[in-house]
Amino acid sequence: MALKKRKSRQSKRKRKLILVVVALLFALAITGYSYRDFIFAAMDKHDAAGLELPPTDAEPVETEEPGGEDEAFEPADPAEPGWTEEDLPPLPEPPPGELLRIKDGDYLLALVTRYTTLGDYEPSDLRQIPAEMIRPEQRQWQYYLRAEALEHLLLLLEDARGAGMELFINSAYRSYKTQDQLFRDYASRHGEEKANTFSARPGQSEHQLGTAVDFNSPASYMGQDFGNTPEGRWLAENAHRYGFALSYPEGATEITGYIYEPWHFRYIGVDAAAAWKESGMVLCEFLEKRCPQEFVD
Ligand code: DAL
Ligand code: ZN
Repeated sequence: MALKKRKSRQSKRKRKLILVVVALLFALAITGYSYRDFIFAAMDKHDAAGLELPPTDAEPVETEEPGGEDEAFEPADPAEPGWTEEDLPPLPEPPPGELLRIKDGDYLLALVTRYTTLGDYEPSDLRQIPAEMIRPEQRQWQYYLRAEALEHLLLLLEDARGAGMELFINSAYRSYKTQDQLFRDYASRHGEEKANTFSARPGQSEHQLGTAVDFNSPASYMGQDFGNTPEGRWLAENAHRYGFALSYPEGATEITGYIYEPWHFRYIGVDAAAAWKESGMVLCEFLEKRCPQEFVD
């Protein structure tokens, strides 16, 4: 009898223990989720100007050399940049010739090329891109765009989704410092000459404007084949309706200085983008010829 009672007390204790463990796990899951939400909400409110972003860009999967030679690149795993600042060699000397200093990086039509520099310009109205717009593998990091560009990007992505496209963002605003680290990393791995074909030097990237984005689809990430995917074609045909222009089109390396980047678009405003599309010009030529530029004397 006593044995029976003891056994029943033991099994009651066991049941209690299981209940406590299950409740604890449940509470942990709930708390973990809320905590994460809380952090993201707090970051959303944070004025992101000057915030250091992780070095999330990967170089193109393959490039076309001006001479026609194709070379496959190993895309860097954005989750594991594989370097720290201390590992990086110094920034190679800039090519000779004076750079024109862009007076106002806030100007949506600022001419950002190899011959101009933004210096350490930082946009003052950066907003966080909602996590669901980011490439799933990169959602542990936050990405920012200027407010007006983000507003139009959201419209674009909504309509793209409505048209059956699966589009994500894998790069947006990059500070001078992030671009500096990226370029030094690329130059150390591929040589400066090669790095110059697919990466801007610090101060010379449209990403520093806070208006440029790199798109991808599940079928293509940082590959020139993106231009032949339904998503790449949809963007090429429609992005201008939302104020975005393709900066580095196919066959324009001589003009832009960069390889074909079907994933890289820059917000210049809906009216300007319509005029650019209508002109059929390469973006930097359009901006140079049609838009007033101001440079520091
Ligand atoms: N990939 C473009 C050229 C950039 O680095 O801004
Ligand atoms: Zn880009």
